[in-house]
Amino acid sequence: MAEQLTNATMIVDKDFKVSEIDPRIYGSFIEHLGRAVYGGIYEPDHPEADEHGFRKDVLDLVKELQVPIVRYPGGNMVSAYNWEDGVGPKEERPKRLELAWRTIENNQVGTNEFADWAKKAGTDVMMAVNLGTRGIDAARNLLEYANYPAGTYYSDLRRRHGYEQPHNIKTWCLGNEMDGPWQIGGKTAEEYGRLAYETAKAMKLVDPDIELVSCGSSNSDMPTFPQWEATTLEHTYEYADYVSLHQYYTNYENDTANFLARSMEMDHFISTVVSTCDYIKAKKRSSKTMNLSFDEWNVWFHSTKADQHIEPWQTAPPQLEDVYTFEDAVLVGSLLHTLLKHSDRVKIACMAQLVNVIAPIMTDNGGRVWKQTIFYPYYYTSVYGRGTALNPVVNSPKYDSKDFTDVPYLDTSVVYNEDKDELVVFATNRHLENTLKVDCDIRSFEDFYVKEHVVLEHEDPKAVNTAGQEKVTPHYNGQSYMESGRLQGILPKMSWNMIRLQKQ
Ligand code: AHR
Repeated sequence: MAEQLTNATMIVDKDFKVSEIDPRIYGSFIEHLGRAVYGGIYEPDHPEADEHGFRKDVLDLVKELQVPIVRYPGGNMVSAYNWEDGVGPKEERPKRLELAWRTIENNQVGTNEFADWAKKAGTDVMMAVNLGTRGIDAARNLLEYANYPAGTYYSDLRRRHGYEQPHNIKTWCLGNEMDGPWQIGGKTAEEYGRLAYETAKAMKLVDPDIELVSCGSSNSDMPTFPQWEATTLEHTYEYADYVSLHQYYTNYENDTANFLARSMEMDHFISTVVSTCDYIKAKKRSSKTMNLSFDEWNVWFHSTKADQHIEPWQTAPPQLEDVYTFEDAVLVGSLLHTLLKHSDRVKIACMAQLVNVIAPIMTDNGGRVWKQTIFYPYYYTSVYGRGTALNPVVNSPKYDSKDFTDVPYLDTSVVYNEDKDELVVFATNRHLENTLKVDCDIRSFEDFYVKEHVVLEHEDPKAVNTAGQEKVTPHYNGQSYMESGRLQGILPKMSWNMIRLQKQ
């Protein structure tokens, strides 16, 4: 039976600007957790390992994604981490009980190795400091170790460790999810606010050029959200440059239509945090605008049951290894639209995580590397979503689902890359049965033609990619075309699309 058509319209105009996109919105995250580091980016015995033990096959895929910044070393793990354990001669580094994930951490990768890896991957490091079990002193010492050129105790220690030049890490997180009862050394908003303020003050005295991220809520379902943001920002507003947001999306009910609407939750979450920041700005009579770092986001639920059966105190067990479906990739595409739509305030965002742990890249220990389904929307949006985010006027039919009302079938974000004279329409069709035909008025883009229409679609919403069997891959046979100067977007049922237009 031929697919039914649903119609939508859009107006795209150069003058409808959201913001210049900060490339760090395409960041990611590597935690000392599961096989993210050991068996993921680092596996000295692997045939693809380079002279430092980093897997070149993994590095190639990270480079393909053009990840601009990677958060490190945690995550929950950072809240009981001694950074000193991970520097100096490898054979002298201690093995420790890692309490957040109940594993053994052998510290064969630490600050310097990660900085080396980041350089090879062409990415910057976003470093988190431990505000769980530690505080001002450990944070300022680590910063001195990483960024101070020479002639002091910690900078000379780094040089003795073989790193003559400082790493010049610019972006630092003041702890991780400090509101979470699961967090080692978790805090009340008052306790965290005071500690984060004093730590931030000391860190900016060491290096005034750094940028700092104050911890927001662990997710929008926390009972203390958004009072946590209000209370902590009262303390940290002066020194912090960003407040963090974390959220993972689930489909436990196996309800595709409802799941695909979850990006509306992200939208609402961002708007609430923006309002809270602006409330504190007003209260403080401040002229400074606080920006947002959505430094953990993804789909995460497939592995939660299996993880309950993992024996504790192993080194690098397979934890949080979600195998992503096609429908997860469609939602990830929509989550990226949402970040772009808020790019006036969201300046950093990190897909959590990058390799093996709830990740777009998977590996076998000693074996292959492959792309999960979610790799594709992340790849195309990161590579082609650079420039200015535009705010299209969208008119789309809507549906209701279990948790949402008025969900537009068409979800979209638009980027104008002036340097390349390129207009990129990223578009999701949430309709599970019908093709969506989008009549798009691109009035300020004269003589543009459809250069490429990439489609991610699959008959089976639950289709997955595994080693050597990548069932979900994009194709380039999208049917969009220009008619009388208007773009006619043809979006197959339940699909994610990238339509790239260029000036003739
Ligand atoms: O990314 C996995 C975990 O999720 C992180 O360690 C923590 O910050 C969050 O709860």
